[in-house]
Amino acid sequence: MPAVVVVGGQWGDEGKGRIVDLLARKARVVARYSAGNNAGHTIVNERGEFKLHLVPAGIFYPDKTCLIGNGVAVDPAVLLDEIAQLESRGVDAHRLKVSERAQVVMPWHRLIDRLDEELRGAGAIGTTGKGIGPCFTDKVARRGIRIADLLEPEDLAPRLRAVLDYQNRLITGVYGAEPLEFDACLEEHLAHGRRLRPFVADTQAIVIDALRAGDYVLLEGAQGSLLDLDHGTYEYVTSSVPSSTAGGATLGVGIGPTDVQRAVGVFKSYCTRVGNGPFPTELTGDVGDRLRDHGKEFGRGEYGTTTGRPRRIGWLDTVAARYSVRFNGLSALALTRLDVLEGLPSLKLCTAYEIDGQIVSTLPASASALRRAKPVYEELPGWDAPVSGVRAFDDLPPQAQLYVRRVERLLGVPVDLISVGPEREQAIIVNPIF
Ligand code: GDP
Ligand code: IMO
Ligand code: MG
Repeated sequence: MPAVVVVGGQWGDEGKGRIVDLLARKARVVARYSAGNNAGHTIVNERGEFKLHLVPAGIFYPDKTCLIGNGVAVDPAVLLDEIAQLESRGVDAHRLKVSERAQVVMPWHRLIDRLDEELRGAGAIGTTGKGIGPCFTDKVARRGIRIADLLEPEDLAPRLRAVLDYQNRLITGVYGAEPLEFDACLEEHLAHGRRLRPFVADTQAIVIDALRAGDYVLLEGAQGSLLDLDHGTYEYVTSSVPSSTAGGATLGVGIGPTDVQRAVGVFKSYCTRVGNGPFPTELTGDVGDRLRDHGKEFGRGEYGTTTGRPRRIGWLDTVAARYSVRFNGLSALALTRLDVLEGLPSLKLCTAYEIDGQIVSTLPASASALRRAKPVYEELPGWDAPVSGVRAFDDLPPQAQLYVRRVERLLGVPVDLISVGPEREQAIIVNPIF
C-alpha cells in the first residue's frame, strides 16, 4: 500500500493533528517528516486533550508504529518530556521510534533564535523561539549534531567541542552575548543519548517494510505550506529542510515519490497566522475577535498551541489556497473548524487581489507586493444552526453546503472531509480518503 501525506495548506494550525488522529485508524505507521517542536498539534479523544509537538498523532492507537523521521529537528529534552507526559496519562509511547539521522536542537539554537529575532528588531519573523531555524541552518551548513552522535560518547565530545567553539564565536562576536559552557552541554547530551537510546531506530527501514507489506503509512505534516522556504511568504516563513510541503514528505522519511498515493490538504474554513508577515485577508475588528474567541471559555480559541500567542484571523484566502493546492499536488481537502463560522450573517471568500490597480489571481513572490494586496471578496450567506453535531453533508444547513461547494470549486479539489469540532468523531466523511 502507498503512503498518504497530510499537509497544512495555509500558515499552520489548520487542524492537522486532529485530521491525522482520525485518519490514523486505517494506517499501520504514522510518521512526522519535517519541522520540530515549533509545531503544536492538538488531539482531543476519549482520553482528553493532548498537545503534541514532536510525537506523531497516531500515538493514541495501541497498534500503530509512530516515527519521527530523519527530516525532523528533535529537541531531546522536549521529546523526553512529551513521552513522559503521555505515559503519565496512560498512553504507551514505546511504539515511538526516532530516526538516528534526525538533527538535534541544541542549546545554542534556542539562544540564537532569540538573539537573532532581537537583532532583526522591527523586521523580526515572530518565530516560536524553539531554535528550529538555527538548527536547520546548521544542518545545511553541515555543522549539525544528529541523534546518532548522541549515542557515540567517544565521538560526541570532540564534535561538540568543535561545533560549540564556532557557535560561541557567533554568540559573542555577532550577537554580543555570553558564551555557552562545554562541560554542562556535553553532560546534558550524553544523558539525553542514554535516555533516548531505546527509541532510536532506522526509521526509513520501518517505513519501507510497511509499504512493502501492503500497509498504509500516514505522513504527518507540520506547519503550513505558506510557511515553506520556497513557496511560502518569504522571508516570513519557517526554515524546515526538508520542507513541510507534500514534496518534502518523501525526503523526510526516506521514500521515493512513487510511494506516495495521495496528498490531503488540511485547510481551515477561514485563515489564521501566528507570527509576522503579510496576510491580505486579515480581520482586525469584531469579526476577527469573534472567530478568535469562539470556544475560548473551554480553552479552545485561536491561541497558539506552542506559544499561546493570539492567532491573527482572516477570511479564507482562495488565491493563496489554490497556489498551495497546486504546488502540493493535493488530491483531497479536509476542511476544518466549519462550526466556528456559525452565527455570522455573511461570509467572505477572497477570490483575487488588487495590487497597484491590477487584479491578480496568483500569490505574488514579493512580500511587499503581498502587503499591498487588497483582497477582492465574494460574499456568501451565513448560517445560524450549530453544525458540530452534523455527521452527513446533506444535513448541513444549505448555506454551509453552499460555502463548502464554493470553496471546492475555487480550489479545484474535492472536500473529502469536513471537521465540525475538535473531537475525533466530529467529522463529516464526504468521500473516504483511504
Ligand atoms: P495543527 O497544528 O494543524 O495540528 O492545529 P492546532 O492543534 O495547532 O490548532 C487547531 C485547533 O483547532 C486545535 O485547538 C484543535 O483542537 C481545533 N480543531 C480542529 N478541528 C476543529 C474543528 O473542526 N472545530 C473546532 N471548533 N476546533 C477544531
Ligand atoms: P503547526 O505544525 C503555526 C511560524 C511561526 C513564525 C514562523 C517561523 O502547529 O501548524 P519558527 O519558529 O518555525 O522559526 O517560526 O513560522 N510557525 C508556525 N505557525 N503553526 C506551526 O506549526 C508553526 N511552525 C512555525 O509562528 O511565524
Ligand atoms: Mg499547531
